[in-house]
Amino acid sequence: MPDSTTARAAPAARPLMPTGVGYADGDYVPVEQLSVSVLDYGFTRSDVTYDVVHVWDGRFFRLEHHLDRFLKSMAALRMAIPHDRDAIRAILMECVRRTGLREAYVAMVCTRGRPPPGVRDLRQCRNRFMAYALPFVWIASPEKQRSGLSAVIATRPRIPPQSVDPTVKNYHWLDMDRALFEAYDAGADTVILPSLEGTVTEGPGFNAFAVIGDVVVTPDSGVLEGITRQTVIDLCRRKGIAIEVRPVTLAEFRDADEIFIASTAGGVMPVTRLDGRILGNGAPGAVTSRIRDLYWAWHRDAADTTPIAYED
Ligand SMILES: Cc1ncc(COP(=O)(O)O)c(C=O)c1O
Repeated sequence: MPDSTTARAAPAARPLMPTGVGYADGDYVPVEQLSVSVLDYGFTRSDVTYDVVHVWDGRFFRLEHHLDRFLKSMAALRMAIPHDRDAIRAILMECVRRTGLREAYVAMVCTRGRPPPGVRDLRQCRNRFMAYALPFVWIASPEKQRSGLSAVIATRPRIPPQSVDPTVKNYHWLDMDRALFEAYDAGADTVILPSLEGTVTEGPGFNAFAVIGDVVVTPDSGVLEGITRQTVIDLCRRKGIAIEVRPVTLAEFRDADEIFIASTAGGVMPVTRLDGRILGNGAPGAVTSRIRDLYWAWHRDAADTTPIAYED
């Protein structure tokens, strides 16, 4: 037994910050204090990439998939930071640990940063890494998911992939924000954007799927390769549900038996009304509901989850 006079007192437990924790430049701060300069090109030019992973029941889901995509996005934008993959993973873990949250929305962000004074050469910018953990974010609340969402197809197309690569996760959201106002004006919950060619792309924060007969279809290009989208593809293949990754025309989408959207911010979410048309009997369809259940069940799979080390 240690001598009580010589034993060091255990460090006082740090209070948890359940409203959110941010990280930048070596410091962990309450998320409200995490900020970016108005002169950062991430702000003035949307020259930024990011990724979002969620924590469910105390475990990251498919964290390595998100780290792969984030590192690939940074390389595509020719960004470099002083943290390697292991360091980023440790920072994300620490952000969550300091919130104490069992369900969390965890973002990693890299901005172009600022060039030295008087310089405008992008190659001289100091790229800036930030991360934060917040309480879980739902694109559609669990209550809304029980009834299903209503969506419209936007009148204007998504930014073409030839101009801004949608597989590099980005903040070029003006097309999607404008489309969201179309949805609000139509009394709908959300919006799905067409491509210039008249196929389906994606929506603000999610990939789109249709069920046509007993086949699940989702666009093959012109979209972010969502990790939730990949999980749906993987689980369909594992469970013998027919899945096609191919161009999806607006006409067949409008005519689909079921529609659902997929995102880290909420998982698999049924759409039961499109442009005012009620799908099926107006309730989430059988295929969508099955995929949604399988998706959440996957969160108990140790191979694809990383437990948070909550202990101090
Ligand atoms: C434009 C866009 N598409 C799709 C998604 C879904 O991707 P993930 O499943 O990786 O969250 C997102 C997520 O934010 C997104 O912003």
